Amino acid sequence: MKIKIFDTTLRDGEQVPGCKLESFNKIEIARQLEKLGVDVIEAGFPISSPSDFNSVVEISHAVYNPIICVLARAIKKDIEIAAKALEGAKQSRIHIGIGTSDCHIRYKFNSMPEKILEKAVESVKYAKRFVEEVQFYTEDAGRTQNEFLAKVCEAVIKAGATILNIPDTTGICLPKVYGEKISYIKENVNGIEKAIISTHCHNDLGLATANSLEGVINGAQQVECTLNGLGERAGNSALEEIVMLFKQHSYLGFETNIKTELLCITSEIITKCTGISVQSNKAIVGANAFAHSSGIHQDGLIKKIKNYEIIPTKNVGIKESRLILTIRSGRSALSYRYQMLGYIIPKDEIYPLFLKYAEKKKEIQDEDIKMLLKIAKFSTSIYI
Ligand code: KIV
Ligand code: ZN
Repeated sequence: MKIKIFDTTLRDGEQVPGCKLESFNKIEIARQLEKLGVDVIEAGFPISSPSDFNSVVEISHAVYNPIICVLARAIKKDIEIAAKALEGAKQSRIHIGIGTSDCHIRYKFNSMPEKILEKAVESVKYAKRFVEEVQFYTEDAGRTQNEFLAKVCEAVIKAGATILNIPDTTGICLPKVYGEKISYIKENVNGIEKAIISTHCHNDLGLATANSLEGVINGAQQVECTLNGLGERAGNSALEEIVMLFKQHSYLGFETNIKTELLCITSEIITKCTGISVQSNKAIVGANAFAHSSGIHQDGLIKKIKNYEIIPTKNVGIKESRLILTIRSGRSALSYRYQMLGYIIPKDEIYPLFLKYAEKKKEIQDEDIKMLLKIAKFSTSIYI
């Protein structure tokens, strides 16, 4: 089954503290997302600022294939501005919604469930005057009672929404609970066959990707995610993780349109534009995701890559994995590195010297091990 990838790097992703993208950055990112093959780009929240509005206008003209989606609250003015920003888009979608949990209804809106339901329906009907595709988000669905959630979903489908976003806004859900929520909607909402269910999972407990997967297993057909897992607080489900999860576990039967060999370069472009660096141990796109440093692992990897790597590096756009020479490296890794540099060194000859040197340095570079050759007075006859 094809799963749609809804990228929200330019909206939820931009909500990272310290991240402020200029319009030209956003266009560069949007074009890269188009190359990557995302189905929907959430380009911004036009009412939030004139610069956000303008970026959406520019992105709408700059990309062709993905649907351009924008965020709006269930407020007429938001919807009007959203529709105006989308005028140049080849395919457009308005993403409106309102908080549906008891907590949001009471403390955010000082309202009542019936009033929230009314607003939801009105806003969808209003948005339908401007665009064909209306996506509705039930904010804080993770903490919304399933019965009320289903009631809202049914009402907004009736009003014309064709995509239902079920956000775990606070990242509280366990995968089982989130999966059951999606399943409950599938089973209890009249007219659900007319709509696509979308996951939108936050990572406050490190479960965003697991929850998105569980959502899909239980019937969601769209995943909302960001490159590098950027997003409000602990971020969103990472696009690279969910896509590679589907690919590595192909027996699950989920596919996307993502060109996975562009994942790492896209991640780098996002880092360059946002200035937000990726933690080195981040799955798929972190600097150490394909780096090996312990002697046991390096020896195993040299014998057969699949001993320690589950993803072929070319599938995510990396040339090869890296063996990092450190004090923990063994003889195999050292002689392998010499071989790569064009030297054949008997395994035991230089290793003690290497260890002495590695005591003082965190990572041993090629220049260092060439220098060790000189110290050990190896003749050039061993150069191949
Ligand atoms: O996390 C969330 O609930 C959101 C909505 C605005 C979709 O980002
Ligand atoms: Zn969010």
